[in-house]
Amino acid sequence: MVVLEKLQRYGPRHKTLVRAMVLCFVIYSLYFLGFNETYQSIDEHSHEVAQNDAIVQRSKLMSAGNRVFNWKPKVTSDDTSSKCQPQRKLVYLRLVETKCYTFGNILNRFGYHNGLTFVLPDTSRSAVFDFTEPLSETMIAPFNTHDYDLLVHFARYNHLLMHQLVPNARFITMIQEPSRQLRASFFFFKMQYRWKLRENFESQTFPTFVRDASKYYYTNEPYNWLMKNGQLFMLGLDHKDELDADKVKQRIGEIEYHFDLVMINEYFDESLILLKKIMCWSFEDILYMPHDAFEHSYTGISSETTRTVDQWSAADRRLYYHFNTTFWRKVEEYGDTFQQDLQTFRLLNANAIRACATKNPPHLCTLMATEEEDFVEEIRNHQQQLYGFLP
Ligand SMILES: *[C@@H]1O[C@H](CO)[C@@H](O)[C@H](O)[C@H]1NC(C)=O
Repeated sequence: MVVLEKLQRYGPRHKTLVRAMVLCFVIYSLYFLGFNETYQSIDEHSHEVAQNDAIVQRSKLMSAGNRVFNWKPKVTSDDTSSKCQPQRKLVYLRLVETKCYTFGNILNRFGYHNGLTFVLPDTSRSAVFDFTEPLSETMIAPFNTHDYDLLVHFARYNHLLMHQLVPNARFITMIQEPSRQLRASFFFFKMQYRWKLRENFESQTFPTFVRDASKYYYTNEPYNWLMKNGQLFMLGLDHKDELDADKVKQRIGEIEYHFDLVMINEYFDESLILLKKIMCWSFEDILYMPHDAFEHSYTGISSETTRTVDQWSAADRRLYYHFNTTFWRKVEEYGDTFQQDLQTFRLLNANAIRACATKNPPHLCTLMATEEEDFVEEIRNHQQQLYGFLP
């Protein structure tokens, strides 16, 4: 009932973002044509580094008062035989890795589309909590409500508070193979500028760092904290404990206990199928377009770099190894229909992307193409109107 009421309050507040679509596809086309030197433009901008920069300067595609998006909410599972109840409460412990914006779009879209309420950072436009410390109440935008459904933006793990903010939530996260994850973080925080790495090719700055990591890494610089075992750091392990095998093991055990799903970046579609099951969502809910520029920027990491990172971020390596194993166990438990559901989903997603590239794309495409920052701004404005802030 509460949900229905919320939906009514929200009404048809969606917007047409045809321009977003066009821009999006121009950008993707450029990637596919190989003009993917994202970094050159970032390079020209400045060497100034702030965490928001990394979310990339995006044009204001969502202008208020232009709301014609009208896609009927639908939160039903396709699996009519099962009697599961679609879940709306979710905490996604977001780590910097190459699909975090692609996945973020699915969650922003789900919440926005269903009129759900997000825990947001207390900053004007950022979608990033201060993650140098575990999430605390002072970091949260003080909307005048206690009725939160989703916490899905970058924040450092604090189980107690997250659990209090979103009671009865499913907890999920997504991890990535350590060298690829470290590279994503490295460029996300523009470490090549912070550390003044000068190479002919931007792509070479990462291997240069890895070859001599301890020379660049100082733990007293907050941004550096994610340059070693960054995944476990975000998941609550302090750096002082990362060489303590028992503490690492204990932390991994706690994550296994508290999290309903640890998705694996390298098996993204498979992860979504598992997510769909535990949330009792529909295929439509998990459709996606790629949103992570970093993923396209550079290909290939040498096996030498991978090996070196495995030693450097040994705790993260353990984390990844552990949850890759449990992941495939969950796939087995899913049962015989897993492969079939995966194929169905891939077909639906390919169809959706094709449909979105046509002249009159379905409305769903608008939300699928909306960038994180625009989404968050829209959600923030809406929640501000709806609840106001605490005095
Ligand atoms: C993850 O697990 C699968 C299945 O056991 C295995 O084939 C794959 O090599 C593993 N990946 C890594 C990077 O360990």
